[in-house]
Amino acid sequence: MKLKNILLSFLVQVTLSTTFSEPINKKFPKNFIWGTATASYQVEGGWQDDGKGESNWDHFTHTYPDHIANGDNGDIACDSYHKYLEDVELLKDLGANFYRFSLSWSRILPTGNADEVNQAGVDYYKNLISALKSNGIEPFVTLFHWDLPQALEDQGGWPNTDLLVEKFADYARLAFSLFGDDVKNWMTFNEAKQTCQLGYGYGVFAPGVNSDGIDSYKCAHTVLKSHARAYHIYDEEFRPTQNGRVSMVVDTDWFEPASDSDQDKEAAERKIQFNFGWYANAIYHPDGNYPQVMIDRIAERSQREGFEQSRLPAFTPEEVNYIKGTYDFFALNTYTTTMVQWSDDWEIGTPGYDADISVTTWQDSSWNSSASGWLKVVPWGTRKLLNWIDQTYNHPEIVITENGFSDHGELEDGGRVNYYLEYLSNILQAILDDGVNVTGYTAWSLMDNFEWLSGYTEKFGLHQVDFGNPDRPRTAKSSAEYYKKVISTRCLVD
Ligand code: NOJ
Repeated sequence: MKLKNILLSFLVQVTLSTTFSEPINKKFPKNFIWGTATASYQVEGGWQDDGKGESNWDHFTHTYPDHIANGDNGDIACDSYHKYLEDVELLKDLGANFYRFSLSWSRILPTGNADEVNQAGVDYYKNLISALKSNGIEPFVTLFHWDLPQALEDQGGWPNTDLLVEKFADYARLAFSLFGDDVKNWMTFNEAKQTCQLGYGYGVFAPGVNSDGIDSYKCAHTVLKSHARAYHIYDEEFRPTQNGRVSMVVDTDWFEPASDSDQDKEAAERKIQFNFGWYANAIYHPDGNYPQVMIDRIAERSQREGFEQSRLPAFTPEEVNYIKGTYDFFALNTYTTTMVQWSDDWEIGTPGYDADISVTTWQDSSWNSSASGWLKVVPWGTRKLLNWIDQTYNHPEIVITENGFSDHGELEDGGRVNYYLEYLSNILQAILDDGVNVTGYTAWSLMDNFEWLSGYTEKFGLHQVDFGNPDRPRTAKSSAEYYKKVISTRCLVD
């Protein structure tokens, strides 16, 4: 069986890579925008400077150092809290149109309560935003990139729906009012699936709660309600004067059926609906709500397990309408592809998310690797994913808010240059040949940083950071030169 899978996926890959992987010598549209991204906990450091409160990631890394490679943490990270002006210089040198970064909620609101503002935290972001704007770089701001004030975690965190929806609404309103005259692109959440599934499902990310298929679904429910609430707050109270855009970043692999059979195609569709539709459908699909396949399967599975109600919380019809359409562009993070083969063995696996889906997945051993086990180089998958989003969600404007490659931090980073060349080539084909409305691209990351459980062992940066040096000097890699050229010419090849 395994051998058959491997042969099949090899054939699929060879066919697809010859169709889709040739770099093309055409230009990106004139109004296409280019940026790079980071996130507060991954780069800022200054974890208790100037009144910042403890976040759940501070707490998690300090409590369970053995859960992180080398016992690393983000206490100092890239020290961007002190070195942000250098970061702006790097962006300027790249010619980036925008910089996507996140606010540390606990730097602004140390206890998570909106009536206890830490002015030094506000000033930090004001200064960063003003340095960006004076260099012609648009701030793209994420409100939540995984670091929750520990005070809110202590009260149950995201599975505590009533509390967190209110707290997030207060925080979002404050951020819009403080920074919204200068920030015109907001993202409420980044890849909430990692917080919900890894944090409250498998329990490997902060806060380390292991309640798969129960708290993970509750967490997602809170996130979707909180996002919608923030969107409506923006719409009603800020859009008339600030005139910006709000979105939520959802991430996914492309899921490629292992064969042309209807069963494998159904399995791949089931997998993407659970993985991506879980968060995207309620917001971006014209019908809203969770994907029907999730509603049906989790209800049936829960019943078999003896639950009185489905483990997947339900939205009321009013809530479905309230959440539906709460976006101004589609914010997509994507890195790789996974093969999917049909299976429907309800008896395997422990109850929870994977057992709710029950398909067989793998990544092809012939695909080029990165330094991250999950990240294989599969450029053609991105073109297919963009087409799937275009068709499934009614031709939205898409901004790719993250895409990138990890290695071990070498300055001559040919693997990363090749990754950008091939992925961008497929994105360009999606735009020019398939008519997908992609309007922006974000390279993850501006610089090497704290890669969560992998600590500083996997590097995604266009710039190297010397973590052994207290000054954290940054040095441009070959990929920074390459990306700079792409931005200035809008072309991938000379
Ligand atoms: C997704 C996340 O948003 C980011 O924090 C992470 O570092 C990159 N992908 C790479 O894993």
